[in-house]
Amino acid sequence: MDPLARVALLNIKRSARVLLYPQSWHIQCRKLTSQQIFDREAKYGAHNYHPLPVALCKAQGVFMWDVEGKRYFDFLSAYSAVNQGHCHPRIYKAMLDQAKTLTLTSRAFYSDVLGEFEEYITKLFGYDKWLPMNTGVEGGETACKLARKWGYSCKGIPQNQAKIIFVEGNFWGRTMSAVSSSTDPSSYGGFGPFMPGFEIIPYDDLSALQRALDDPNVCAFMVEPIQGESGVVVPKDGYLKGIRELCTRYNVLWIADEVQTGLARTGKRIAVDYENVKPDILILGKALSGGFYPVSGVLANDPVMLAIKPGEHGSTYGGNPLGCRIALEAVRVLEEEKLAENAERLGHVLRNELNKLPKDVVTLVRGKGLLNAIVINKKINAMDICIKLKEHGLLAKPTHGHIIRLAPPLIITEEQIRECADIISKTILTYN
Ligand SMILES: Cc1ncc(COP(=O)(O)O)c(C=O)c1O
Repeated sequence: MDPLARVALLNIKRSARVLLYPQSWHIQCRKLTSQQIFDREAKYGAHNYHPLPVALCKAQGVFMWDVEGKRYFDFLSAYSAVNQGHCHPRIYKAMLDQAKTLTLTSRAFYSDVLGEFEEYITKLFGYDKWLPMNTGVEGGETACKLARKWGYSCKGIPQNQAKIIFVEGNFWGRTMSAVSSSTDPSSYGGFGPFMPGFEIIPYDDLSALQRALDDPNVCAFMVEPIQGESGVVVPKDGYLKGIRELCTRYNVLWIADEVQTGLARTGKRIAVDYENVKPDILILGKALSGGFYPVSGVLANDPVMLAIKPGEHGSTYGGNPLGCRIALEAVRVLEEEKLAENAERLGHVLRNELNKLPKDVVTLVRGKGLLNAIVINKKINAMDICIKLKEHGLLAKPTHGHIIRLAPPLIITEEQIRECADIISKTILTYN
């Protein structure tokens, strides 16, 4: 065989091996110790995160392994992007099959996959149309743009006067618009000037919402049905219904940010299903990818979605065949494996066990489905608890100092959730 052809063939075989046996990455990364991995990232990477000191090289289902071979229960699920469990075999296969065939066309052309996904997701959630993007924050940006455009073209708001209402403690990402609506100084501090036309009201406060919506220039109210990054803050029963009624009465679009709460995490397909209400714009992201590849987007009906015309919004990768195929399989897995039902049932088991913990250490347990948090007595360092949990084989991360979010993959079994509740209890009891 011609030597050049032989080299090309060897390269193809090598790449195929890596694709077929992703564990071989594990062997490669074991050449470095955890400490060497921390040091390398600290030296060459931007310091925009403060990770728990654990260097992972493999994950499967509910488990992750570090480079020294220690196994952990994952209680973060990549901020709820891996609801289906790590490296789900069905999503992995769908990704490989599509990657062999067609990955990226751009939206300059049609593909045979985008429409298939659009039909599936719109019928599943009961909306007219889907607008695809990539990351959660782009979903939020898209929702805000749609709302402003609708405000001018349908509601009759004078040009450049449209307002969007947000709530205290919201989190929807790190772009300039997202930090402009933030009330957390570590998100917005030092990044001004900010996006105009954004107003903030308290969360879970329908009277404040009514006062804000009275302004005829308001085009939308954007809110998470349960605040994730703020520490799994669950509003009072009736809040979502109240939002729906007020937004309808004042002709304002309700944007529900379900990037974290959506797709089975809270024990329903989406968290607004708890009150049987339907937002005008629904943002999805994270678990649409099953952890493989960023996919996000928004759902809306025609009067809102058709406010944006060709050329007015888009993304090179949004709606690409690879992402669509992955998202299609990722959502089918959630539906067919009944992961919302599992999350709902095991959420009760977990909260029940955690509620037995001493109140002077764990002052509050809250959440829905498998999106939960424990609020730690402020005298105790939550990061310190997470380091101890790690030593006992469970990975979780504090959010906002004294709150620890507990969000395992939704494929977890009852036996495993009880084992994890035991690890958490034993760790907490050392502080009593
Ligand atoms: C509710 C919510 N919206 C949006 C985002 C942003 O998603 P992404 O990090 O994929 O941009 C997040 C991220 O945590 C989130 O929790």
